[in-house]
Amino acid sequence: PKVLKVALLGCGTVGSQVARILLEDADALAARAGARLTLAGIAVRNPDATRDVELPRELFTADAEGLIDGADLVIELMGGIEPARTLILRAVRNGASVVTGNKALLAQEGPALFEEADKNNAELSFEAAVAGAIPIIRPIRESLSGDRITRVLGIVNGTTNYILDQMDSTGAAFADALAEAQRLGYAEADPTADVEGHDAAAKAALLATLAFHTPVSLDDVRCQGIAQVTAEDIAAAKDSGLVIKLLAIAELVSVGEGGTEGRGGEGVSVRVHPTLLPREHPLSAVRGAFNAVFVEAENAGELMFYGAGAGGRPTASAVMGDLVSTARRVVAGAPGRTDTATRVLPIVGVDAVTTSY
Ligand code: HSE
Repeated sequence: PKVLKVALLGCGTVGSQVARILLEDADALAARAGARLTLAGIAVRNPDATRDVELPRELFTADAEGLIDGADLVIELMGGIEPARTLILRAVRNGASVVTGNKALLAQEGPALFEEADKNNAELSFEAAVAGAIPIIRPIRESLSGDRITRVLGIVNGTTNYILDQMDSTGAAFADALAEAQRLGYAEADPTADVEGHDAAAKAALLATLAFHTPVSLDDVRCQGIAQVTAEDIAAAKDSGLVIKLLAIAELVSVGEGGTEGRGGEGVSVRVHPTLLPREHPLSAVRGAFNAVFVEAENAGELMFYGAGAGGRPTASAVMGDLVSTARRVVAGAPGRTDTATRVLPIVGVDAVTTSY
């Protein structure tokens, strides 16, 4: 039977769960992938550190390059720009396909990484980078590739949704709700990325790129976090039948003078900000650290994708899905191409940030 060697880079909240699943579910995964997915090793900064999950010590190494060079598939869950970027480039140049959950890296360096992967006949997949366990990348890229998406609204950061929800439902103080989100493993290593909206903005850039087939980077996203939202704001919203959610909003807008291609006059607006939503809106029902992505498409109409958007096991589920799908194509000798951007639409700034929807 065919064997594919898997290198895991990073062993934090998500990485440790991925390692556990690879070891515990090896037989079922082999049957589905058409090859045994053997965990060749786990590259970490400190091989002797304590982990969330007990794993065999001999799997750990500090030599990420050496591990990558012997691997067929590489899973990158280190987060951050470097050394993740250099290691992913090394993997795809070796012809190894990569699965990553690194939204910050993709929102900043995505086009260059995808191009390099395509050039080397390797895949770079990233379902785990947006909204944890929720299948949203593949539905947008594949299921909706014959439709025309006009808008994507997302609650794509569990930490901030948890904080706003706790403030709304229990009157909890901001700091206590944040501490709880950190304890539950939802928050980024530096929770400023959650609270200031940067994590949601990276995800918004990725969603917009895929939904509108045009390059959108983190710099294109207008972003305002929840640090200024007060208990009074939340109470006032409640009194008016509204709820405050941190939304990632990506939409096609008309630009008057004409877009570059396709239907003339199109542009893209992408932003993240606290938004007042009527309590009847389906996104208002998204409680706790859950995420949801609401998609509007010309023919499909309205769709909503809902589920656990953060946390080790849910995010590991998305990583494993990418790994098995990639393995199937590698076994078939036909890795897919990324094709994220096929046109260039202008990015339209929004002068006054709309705070209601
Ligand atoms: N810190 C992120 C969140 C983790 O709270 O949603 C998932 O990307």
